[in-house]
Parts: sequence; structure tokens; C-alpha cells
Amino acid sequence: MPTLDHIGIAVEAPDAVADLYHQLLDVAPYKVEAVKEQGVRTHFISAGPAKLELLEALSADSPVAQHIERRGEGLHHLAFEVTDLRATMARLRDRGFTPLSDAPRAGADGKRIFFLHPKDTRGVLVEFCQSAPVALTPVEVPHASGTLAAYEAGAAEAPPLLLLHGAAGCTQTETLPLMRRLEPHYRVLAVDFTGHGRSSLPEGAFTAERFVADARAVLDHFGVGAAHVFGFSMGGSMALLLAAQHPERVQRLAVHGAHIHWTSARARAMAARLDTDALAARPAMADQLARVHTDWPALFERMRAFVATLPGRASEMAVRAQEVAAPTLVSAVDQDELFPLPSTIELQALLPNSHLALVPGTRHALPQTNLDVLVPLLRSHLREDGKAS
Ligand code: CO
Repeated sequence: MPTLDHIGIAVEAPDAVADLYHQLLDVAPYKVEAVKEQGVRTHFISAGPAKLELLEALSADSPVAQHIERRGEGLHHLAFEVTDLRATMARLRDRGFTPLSDAPRAGADGKRIFFLHPKDTRGVLVEFCQSAPVALTPVEVPHASGTLAAYEAGAAEAPPLLLLHGAAGCTQTETLPLMRRLEPHYRVLAVDFTGHGRSSLPEGAFTAERFVADARAVLDHFGVGAAHVFGFSMGGSMALLLAAQHPERVQRLAVHGAHIHWTSARARAMAARLDTDALAARPAMADQLARVHTDWPALFERMRAFVATLPGRASEMAVRAQEVAAPTLVSAVDQDELFPLPSTIELQALLPNSHLALVPGTRHALPQTNLDVLVPLLRSHLREDGKAS
């Protein structure tokens, strides 16, 4: 079912309007983005489940400038998010509505959009939109003998939240959808771990301490003392270690699909998933990995060696987990094909200040996890004001 995504408001003086909503709602715009194709600069304000999109004309001939000339500042359009934008367009055209473009176009906020002519919609301009994958531009953070790719979204004054991806994953392929969903509410930071994604792969074996140092380097780079931390899978284990070793850096913690009880059998199964030769024999997979990671065969080789060390550290990790004082949400899909439910329950039982939440699902991978369930759980756990309860 379509959901109200945002309300567009035409503005002449964006600073004054942003100030008005700051007085009304106590929130500032979390994102400002120019959309050349629409001739506007957009200023997004979080308003619960929906957003306000302040529209500032970039030129006198932009549709927003014409709207303001005819009707003055004020309500411009309603936008509904759908999951099948082209089908929605075809359905509405069949019903006699008039789309204002032949095909969906690029809009703000990483979305494809189209509008309906307001003569068909009783005077209210209606937009339909669908989130599209957007490429992230990393900030290069010098670290050790290489650079880390780090990412930032959301308002600078919002509570900071660091996202940590899983083994052999990266921000772009794993935590980006979560970043987009959380940016209206948090200053969302993310990092590609050493050797992952757009980060460089300097010499030296992978260790948990090295990945924890990556997380701290990114917090340091953005001048963040303490943040909420979310970690997926291996990123969850690193988040737990960060919270145990550097409790002053972690406010509230959330781990999803994390697992610390590594047996030799499970480590062997994981290493098999990182088989470089087998993956290289599948050209489409190899191409995809080459697009995502700086040097994927070297990354996977080092990850295999890293995974082999995990059973030897399982009991130490369990001790570390018991030292985590930060309020922690432990979540997972209920039928994870990689890590069975008892391992999630076992982890939650180790953490002294934690709760368990299950998301219905069968796939470990974060991109295939139902964010409509996970995001509200996270927000409820992290508290929007960033204060512990
Ligand atoms: Co809009």
C-alpha cells in the first residue's frame, strides 16, 4: 500500500521557513540537496514517519518559482512512496490520470518520481516515488598505513549513530538502506572496514582489534566522542568488542545477526563461503565483487585466515560480551540460515543489559531483512533523543 513519504512545501526564504519549523517541531533540516532536473533545492525535515520537503526554486523558470508566483509560499504537493513506480504510473494512466512526465524521473532523496496533473486530483499536486539505489560518496579517512572509506548522513546536531557492516560486505551493499532510513533521525556514520568496500588493504593480518580501531578512527575523524552503535553480523561482534574495550565511546548498542560462539565447524562453513577460486569461476559474481571491493581476492583470502582464528577466541569473546555495560538490543531473523536461533539467544543471555528482538525472516543478509520491522525496533531501543532511559 502506498505510504505518505513527504509533504512538499514551496518556500521563498528557506532559512526563515526552516527556522519556523525549528520553532514548531524543534528539529532542523537533516539534508539539503539540489535536484537540477526539477530546478529546486530541497531541505528535508523529519516529521515522524513522514518528512517535510521544503522546495526552493533554483531559477525563475522552475515549476516551484511559477507555483510561488501564482499561489505564494505554502503547500506544494503530497508524495506517496510505492514499491512499483512504473506499474503505479501505468495503473493511474489507465484510470485516466495524467502523469506530468512520460516516465519516472530522478527526484531528491535518492528516489525516482512522477507527478500527476492537479486538474485530475482536485487541486492537490500528487507525487509518487520509489527509493532507488544511490551511490555513496565516501570521505577518505587516513588510518594506519592506508585510508578508510567513511560515510556521513543526517543532521550534524542529531544523535550520532555508527553503522558497522558484516564480513566481506561494505556500507554500499549492506548498511546503506538502513542509513537512508535512519538519516532523518540520527547523524548516521558508517565505515568500510579495512580492506572492505572502498577502504584500502594495507599489509597485515586481519584482527578484531584492527576492525575495532577502524570504528574508533571514524568516530575520531568526525569528532564524535560517544555514539550509538549498530553492527550487523561481524560488525555486531566488533560493536560488542568496541563497547567492552572502550565503553566511553558507546551510548546504546544494537547488534543484528551477530554471533560470537565460533566452533571449528562453523568457521569452516564460513571459510567455504569465502572461497576465492569458486567465486572467481562465476564471472557475474566476480564482476560484482570487483565493483564493490578495492581488491576482493586479497580481501577474501585475509578474511578466510581471520575466520580461522575465531574459534580460538570464542571463550574470550564470551567473557568480553559479559563486560558490555551499554544497553544492547540483540536482534536477528528468526530462521537465519547461517546462525541458528539458539546462538542469538545465547548471545543475548551473555549480555548483562540487553533485550532480544526477532524479525520474521529466513535470510541472514541485511539487504534481505525486513527493515519495516527492524527500523522501528532500532529507533525504539536507541531513543530519538539519544538519552538512556
Ligand atoms: Co517531493
